[in-house]
Amino acid sequence: MRTSPGFLRSVGVAALLGLATPTLGQTLPQGPGVDLVYTKCQICHDLTYLVDTAGVDAATWEGILSDMIDFGAPVNEEEREVILNYLSTYLGPNPPAEEALAEQAEVGEIDAAQAYATNCAGCHQPEGKGLAGAFPPLANNPALVRDPTYVARVVLFGLSGEIQMGDATFNSTMPPVAHLDDATVAALVNYLLQTFNADLLPEDFEPLRPEQVAELRANPLDAKEVLKHRPAAGP
Ligand code: HEC
Ligand code: HEC
Repeated sequence: MRTSPGFLRSVGVAALLGLATPTLGQTLPQGPGVDLVYTKCQICHDLTYLVDTAGVDAATWEGILSDMIDFGAPVNEEEREVILNYLSTYLGPNPPAEEALAEQAEVGEIDAAQAYATNCAGCHQPEGKGLAGAFPPLANNPALVRDPTYVARVVLFGLSGEIQMGDATFNSTMPPVAHLDDATVAALVNYLLQTFNADLLPEDFEPLRPEQVAELRANPLDAKEVLKHRPAAGP
């Protein structure tokens, strides 16, 4: 039986984010459940562990998943099933061929609310309410409406360092959510601004376009540099 290092257990998931050093832009094969893996499996470490472990059978993944849940991974019964299916299929001994994966990756209609629910809500909470001391709110957040490209950069490259929101301070690390394609990132940013920040949005707001996301993506930043792009507070 494996045991978690004691300090990891005691500091809790939120504080662990500060320890993580996400590897930029690491991606997994597309497949049902991949979004859940991105959300749940980068809280304490990046995806290197998963990629390095690829090829093991379902029983081994099941054991690893149980260990992660013991360590504190926030995965319920239903999610456990989905994640296990994904891991044993796409990171199992016989993963589907490349062509099959490419077909699945083709984007249909983008559902931004769904993209938010699967990729962001686990940390930032439904409706972007945030979690005191851990995850900043994305609703009624004046910094976000000042510059949609800042929001896109956070999604693409993550964020690290101290941010201030009213009286609240956050100082940890968000891993990049780099597997989302340009159109999905644009739709997600516009959704956040138009739905969660409708009251703050300037009248001349211009929705972010996928081409702008492609440009941002072409100029990678590290998570600390992203912080420098956060619009200053003030009227
Ligand atoms: C609460 C923190 C936490 C979360 C969330 C988490 N892990 Fe881990 N993971 C760890 C720790 C700690 C280790 C290192 C354990 C060790 O050194 O034996 C680890 C190591 C691993 C390893 C390396 C092999 C091994 O067995 O040690 C794999 C694979 C892995 N995690 C998969 C996952 C997957 C899949 C998820 C998402 C369901 C996940 N982890 C989520 C804490 C976490
Ligand atoms: C694993 C948890 C986690 C996930 C998943 C996550 N975030 Fe974050 N996010 C954070 C943390 C932690 C911070 C604060 C980082 C800091 O303190 O520098 C943050 C900060 C942000 C900020 C900056 C807020 C500000 O006021 O400057 C934005 C914007 C953001 N996240 C958007 C998103 C979006 C959009 C998604 C989904 C695509 C997402 N996040 C997914 C943890 C997460």
